Amino acid sequence: MKNHSRPGRNRVTCKAFTAIAFSTVILQTLAQDSKRGFAYVGDAHEADNNLLTSSKTPLKWYYNWAPSPPSQVPSTNLEFAPLIHGLDEASSDSISQQLSNLPDSSTHLLAFNEPDGTTESGGSSISPEDAAKSYIDHIAPFRSENRKWKISHPSVTGSENGLEWLRKFNESCYDIDEKNGCPTDFVAAHWYGAFDGLASWLGTLDEFYNTNGSREGEERLKIWVTELALPQADAEATVQMMNLTLPYLDGLEYVERYAWFGAFREGDANEWTGDGVALFGDDGGLTELGALYMGGEQQGFIQGQKGEGQGAGNQLQVEWQLMLLLSLTALWFSNYW
Ligand SMILES: *[C@@H]1O[C@H](CO)[C@@H](O)[C@H](O)[C@H]1NC(C)=O
Ligand SMILES: *[C@@H]1O[C@H](CO)[C@@H](O)[C@H](O)[C@H]1NC(C)=O
Ligand SMILES: *[C@@H]1O[C@H](CO)[C@@H](O)[C@H](O)[C@H]1NC(C)=O
Repeated sequence: MKNHSRPGRNRVTCKAFTAIAFSTVILQTLAQDSKRGFAYVGDAHEADNNLLTSSKTPLKWYYNWAPSPPSQVPSTNLEFAPLIHGLDEASSDSISQQLSNLPDSSTHLLAFNEPDGTTESGGSSISPEDAAKSYIDHIAPFRSENRKWKISHPSVTGSENGLEWLRKFNESCYDIDEKNGCPTDFVAAHWYGAFDGLASWLGTLDEFYNTNGSREGEERLKIWVTELALPQADAEATVQMMNLTLPYLDGLEYVERYAWFGAFREGDANEWTGDGVALFGDDGGLTELGALYMGGEQQGFIQGQKGEGQGAGNQLQVEWQLMLLLSLTALWFSNYW
């Protein structure tokens, strides 16, 4: 019996190993192709950040509206995208150094955050004329530097105002440089609203740049959706919206990257978005939305799951209780032996 069963078991083991190796390759390929990332507002909980940076997630890139990565989230296995927020940053003496300090995996540079928006709402409130001048003087030159940064046009709010701003920006660019305007390598888009509106806004931007913009013989500009959420909705509606959005963006050829807003706990959400957009609950457990964004059960993420480290909330308590129980058991045994 023993002799007969051993080769059989080995074959099974061998097959299992092949299967595991094979699925690992498939999973890795899937992960590498992922467009998904996160907009990092500065979640101070180590446990949340450990979950966000876990290699099991489809999250492959991130940004923080700044030229340098946040110290809480080192860009070890994630691609970091720097952002030049406004005019002062663009013309600062240190910007060039900050960008050259970034790891080689950083290749795309985002320019001017919501210039058509007010500074109170996180925008940079820049006129199209001023933005065009600064873009040509300070930002476009990074394209021809050693690193050959790929640079986006300013990311406007997802609105008619945003589109109007881009039109005027383009005009100003050609007023200054008749031949080149403001050269760009990709487009950054923001969207807060329902799924239909997102699909329509991306279509509008694609039409503006790739159909109507004179780009004969040039590559179709890809879109990075760098802010994305359904604001002021309850958990169920938000999960539904995300459930429609993820496969859509994954399949849309001209979308290269996207980032949900936001990677924070419910209590840290701003008043305008409401807390339905949060990936984490107040105890640090993933919301249903958060688990879905992290790849869901397939990737091993479920609602309520917490990361390890400081700020893990209840999980720490459980671990602490377990330690106490183990110590008491040990004590009990040592007394009886
Ligand atoms: C593209 O051009 C068409 C035809 O001129 C125009 O109707 C449409 O509004 C333009 N689209 C955008 C996004 O500017
Ligand atoms: C920008 O303006 C130039 C010059 O008028 C025009 O050829 C080009 O199509 C415009 N690009 C976009 C994206 O509107
Ligand atoms: C997402 O949609 C699919 C099919 O449309 C459905 O089977 C699944 O339950 C949905 N998931 C969530 C979390 O709503």
